[in-house]
Amino acid sequence: MNKIKKTLVGIPQVKITLTPTPFHHLHNISKINGCNLYIKRDDLTGFALGGNKTRKFDFLVADALKQGCDTIIGIGANQSNFCRVLSGIGSKFGFEIHLILSGRKPQNPTGNLRIDHILGAHVHHIDTTDSEERMNYALKINQQLKEEGKKVYFLPPGGSTPLGTLGYAQGFAEIMEDALKYNLKIDKIIHASSSAGTQAGLVLGQAISGWKGEIHGISVDTPQVELAKNVYDLATEAGKMCNIKIDKNNIFTDDSYVGKGYGIRTKACEEAVNLFARKEGIFLDYVYTGKGAAGMLDYCQKGKIKSDENVIFLHTGGNIQLFE
Ligand SMILES: Cc1ncc(COP(=O)(O)O)c(C=O)c1O
Repeated sequence: MNKIKKTLVGIPQVKITLTPTPFHHLHNISKINGCNLYIKRDDLTGFALGGNKTRKFDFLVADALKQGCDTIIGIGANQSNFCRVLSGIGSKFGFEIHLILSGRKPQNPTGNLRIDHILGAHVHHIDTTDSEERMNYALKINQQLKEEGKKVYFLPPGGSTPLGTLGYAQGFAEIMEDALKYNLKIDKIIHASSSAGTQAGLVLGQAISGWKGEIHGISVDTPQVELAKNVYDLATEAGKMCNIKIDKNNIFTDDSYVGKGYGIRTKACEEAVNLFARKEGIFLDYVYTGKGAAGMLDYCQKGKIKSDENVIFLHTGGNIQLFE
């Protein structure tokens, strides 16, 4: 995976993620499902309770520091994992953090929101589920902060910018190194997908390396075609930073496991959360990884994953949600 390292060399980074994250076989779940399943533990990325977002911040923080910013705005829901990690970034690197969170302000903050408070973030609630309304509110706060003389770094939901996308190109290189250590030929990588940044990064890593397997993003909210387009557009933009073209045919998205919508539990998701906890001692969540794992387990049942294939489930974190 030297190709990926060489491609990213020279792009400033601040090492926030503790790498490599663990990689291991899912012995019991593989046995139950008749498939060969492995897991990449990006729930254990080691900063502000971990998860996939730290890899994006490896690049984003370096950029914010380079631009001389003193304030960062992040957008999400009350239980945003991204906003939790961003709050931690503020503590460690001295940025003032403003979170624009959609959904009613809870009387007693729990889960991620509680952590945001502990970390000292400035929390702005907007009681809406409309993402445009939330964005307009975020832009208003941005303007106010600028007028107060702050140098603001403004991040979209999930930190899914082309620069942040490089985090998972780097993550992809690490996964390939894990596989090499185990002498494994990997056929598929499966993970929960939403704002497209994680999947776009993996797809970019694949494009740089020429790996022949498949990356499957299990949507937790976005319709399949729209998510595929978002992944393609983001990977293409990130690819321009390193002269790499993205092949549309390498983007696999699936919205069959969303259920009634973002954050609404499905039975399969609950079963996946229980299975991972009870058979492997690994905690998923009900918003992202539970649905991602439900998709993977269903692929096993339906023969979409063959018994001789090696599959990696990318655990993207988020299990603080269990304490919501
Ligand atoms: C735990 C968890 N898994 C997966 C995702 C999806 O990642 P992305 O938004 O990069 O598609 C998120 C994003 O919020 C997340 O918090």
